[in-house]
Amino acid sequence: MAATVGIGLLGLGTVGTAVARRLIDEWELLGERAGATPVLRRVAVRDAERPRTVNLKNVPLVSDPTTVVDDPDVRIVIEVIGGREPAATLIEHALAAGKTVVTANKLLAAHQGPELSRLAEQHGAGLWFEATVGAGLPVIALLRGSLGADRISRIDAIINGTTNVILTHMRRDGITLRAALADATERGYAEADPSADLDGWDAAHKLVIMSWLAFGVHVQPESVDRVGIRDIDLADLAYTGQLGYTVKLVAHAHTGDAGAVHLRVRPTAVPADHVLFGVDDSDNAAFISGDLAGEVMLRGLGAGGESTASAVVSDVVEAIRRLDAQPQPPATRPAALLDGEAVEVAQYVRLRVADMPDARQLALQALEDRGVPVVEAIDKPPIDGPDPQLLILTGSAPRAVHDRALETVDSLPFVREIVSTLDRIEPSS
Ligand code: HSE
Repeated sequence: MAATVGIGLLGLGTVGTAVARRLIDEWELLGERAGATPVLRRVAVRDAERPRTVNLKNVPLVSDPTTVVDDPDVRIVIEVIGGREPAATLIEHALAAGKTVVTANKLLAAHQGPELSRLAEQHGAGLWFEATVGAGLPVIALLRGSLGADRISRIDAIINGTTNVILTHMRRDGITLRAALADATERGYAEADPSADLDGWDAAHKLVIMSWLAFGVHVQPESVDRVGIRDIDLADLAYTGQLGYTVKLVAHAHTGDAGAVHLRVRPTAVPADHVLFGVDDSDNAAFISGDLAGEVMLRGLGAGGESTASAVVSDVVEAIRRLDAQPQPPATRPAALLDGEAVEVAQYVRLRVADMPDARQLALQALEDRGVPVVEAIDKPPIDGPDPQLLILTGSAPRAVHDRALETVDSLPFVREIVSTLDRIEPSS
């Protein structure tokens, strides 16, 4: 009889259900690919009495997750309960017992990934986390494996499905953020607390994980320069569209001198000739620059139960293939951060200005005088009162220079309000 490997599952929510279904329904295919058949031994759930949509075929449901981790027949523990605790304690317990762990827990991987990896290494166990970024997209495999020979200099990514659904719907259908969020929630993309999505935390966690693998540094999520999408205005989606841009929550990272890194998550105006431009709805994309491979792009469904289960179960297959010699992610060096104020950015700015002849010219002059180049300026009729709107595309200058120049502009008597500012990727042509 073919060899088997016992699997324990922690959590039977949307992702856990899809994982269990694939393990049970496709055991033969998975076994052929892995070289030994994964067999689900036990599943831990919060409420063992609740009806389930997956036929577990007599696999016991238990309410105490430690009994799954401690089961001597369980060799690989899958954690899909999410959150910091009790997930962290359960994973540490499993790794300390030499068991390999497959997790979809991005919060945990972002905060404690390198530490858990070290624990895994000490105990000859493996830690697999493909599902933490981009669900079924092989972002982690790309960074951990395929680009293993490259020095990676830059990442630009759309790695939060919920905000991408929201921005796409707002732009296409003119609906409010709240209505668009309801749709993303119904489709199972939004976090239980959607502020994780709306405020950019989820994308920041994923960017931290990618940067750990790409640059060998562990940046704390709190150190990511992070702005969410709550203040995005329908008018800016329309105006940027007229100028040939689309607004995306872009996660960006790059390295600078002496290996220092900059990580940011911000709503960004993306031009039509950029690869992230058409990445709409719940699609995710990661655009990565390596010194040998050049620019590599992954794109596809980046959220949802089945797409995430694809990543979890592929990790199980890979972990079984390498059961006796689990590969480890790179060691990390201390993270030196580039000064975010000195990082060069280009922007889209919308002003409400008094209807007087020189207002436009004086506002633009103030920007130029303070070191911010003006690439284009477009007058628009009033939309929410008597004052006309002025759209300005600025060229590349340090963020602090932009901030100071905009403070000056804001103080000009004929400038009623800086309505919005967005980072902007400059078109290549
Ligand atoms: N809330 C996350 C998202 C789920 O919208 O991308 C997938 O990680």
